[in-house]
Amino acid sequence: MKKKQKKSDYAKMQGRDFLSVDDLSIQEIKSLFELAADMKRRPKKYRKALDGKILALIFEKPSLRTRTTFTVAIQSLGGTCVDYPPGDIGLGKRESVYDIAKNLERMVNGVMIRTFGQDIVSSFAVYASIPVINGLTDFEHPCQAMADFFTIAEHKKNIKKLKIAYIGDGNNVAHSLLLMAAKWGASMYVATPPDYAAEASVVQHAQDIAQKSGGSIIVTTDPIEAVRDADVIYTDTWTSMGQEAESIIRRNIFKPYQVNRELFSNAKHDALFMHCLPAHRGEEVTDEIIDSPNSVVFDEAENRLHVQKAILLALLGD
Ligand code: CP
Repeated sequence: MKKKQKKSDYAKMQGRDFLSVDDLSIQEIKSLFELAADMKRRPKKYRKALDGKILALIFEKPSLRTRTTFTVAIQSLGGTCVDYPPGDIGLGKRESVYDIAKNLERMVNGVMIRTFGQDIVSSFAVYASIPVINGLTDFEHPCQAMADFFTIAEHKKNIKKLKIAYIGDGNNVAHSLLLMAAKWGASMYVATPPDYAAEASVVQHAQDIAQKSGGSIIVTTDPIEAVRDADVIYTDTWTSMGQEAESIIRRNIFKPYQVNRELFSNAKHDALFMHCLPAHRGEEVTDEIIDSPNSVVFDEAENRLHVQKAILLALLGD
């Protein structure tokens, strides 16, 4: 009886989009994690789960993990994917977002999009009758946050009791992690340089969610305050895709936010080190920390596969 209830939580997601962490309730997130854990344990059971389904992959920015894990995910569920050379589709440039959405909905069963503006994936999702998945925009990286919290759940007992510290740029990854931490009722600190804070609207929304879930969201410019007695320390590149012209100035501004041995020593001895990758070793994190036994960065990368398999089955399944 209990098992049936769990299955129906993700089964109710059929046909929906996944554009933001905010699109999922905490019950749906937990249900997807249970499904992902089973898929990780027993991959053969799901070999035909999306038999004949086709996923389009649109990348307007480079990718290793997202491209590989979505390709492997759909294929290991019995489906296939269509990928396009960079720049081929030209969302809103070669052809309007509306026309691309109206074409693809007649050809494929779902679309994953990595692009710049969140408005592009939102518009696409409005126009297309098929599920649309956000594979990273400038505003959010929800599949990454799903894999990250799935990884935390594998290593730590009770997420609600954890102190999670995010150090560095208040970017798309920080936004998705803020919303996810708030939904779980965790305590999350985000330490950024003064002019590089997370969007105030996202912080406020996360604080509102946390108030109901029993969590807390604290923003600061002090990395030591953020990591003190933390259970998880997370960082990301100081220069995200599309900001390359700012990389030299950013390297100077973000220097005090490097996750190195000295900063890490303020956290709990068994704190996890996390990074969505790609890492710029020697900038936001030292080799010593990313290669340490505390680091779970490759677990996070692998878990993109398992979590996205669960997301695909929930959205594209019959
Ligand atoms: N973390 C992540 O999204 O990796 P890619 O940019 O390589 O896809």
